Amino acid sequence: MKTHTILLLAILSILVGCSSPENKSATQQQTPSQPAEISDNGNNLFEEKCAACHGADGTAGIANAANLQISKLDTISVIRMITHGKSTMPAFAEQLDTGEIKQITNYVFNLRK
Ligand code: HEC
Repeated sequence: MKTHTILLLAILSILVGCSSPENKSATQQQTPSQPAEISDNGNNLFEEKCAACHGADGTAGIANAANLQISKLDTISVIRMITHGKSTMPAFAEQLDTGEIKQITNYVFNLRK
């Protein structure tokens, strides 16, 4: 009987020992997934609103759209460009909120080589 109880305790402690690091890694995986979601949304928004002229990689140049891979604009200028437009580049102030414009701006910078 006693060996049985000890065995049972040993199995229990193995189970507990295994489950706690698993729980930890599950929480660790959730934390970095949040910035990924944001950049994914920037990617989605770019494909939806911008890729028609700039192309998915920013180089298509449709309707004279600037090549975003060689663009040298700073953050504020990119935000202004998206918000207010310029010549044939449309303004997106009425379609995108500030958070979305920031997400797209991050995405635009990620396109640069
Ligand atoms: C209808 C076509 C069109 C769409 C859609 C469009 N753009 Fe543009 N974009 C242009 C054109 C044309 C220019 C060049 C404007 C100029 O400088 O006269 C430009 C320029 C830019 C520039 C400036 C690059 C530089 O270095 O001068 C950025 C940044 C930019 N677009 C980002 C975006 C983003 C982000 C979106 C989506 C929210 C978008 N564009 C949607 C046509 C478009």
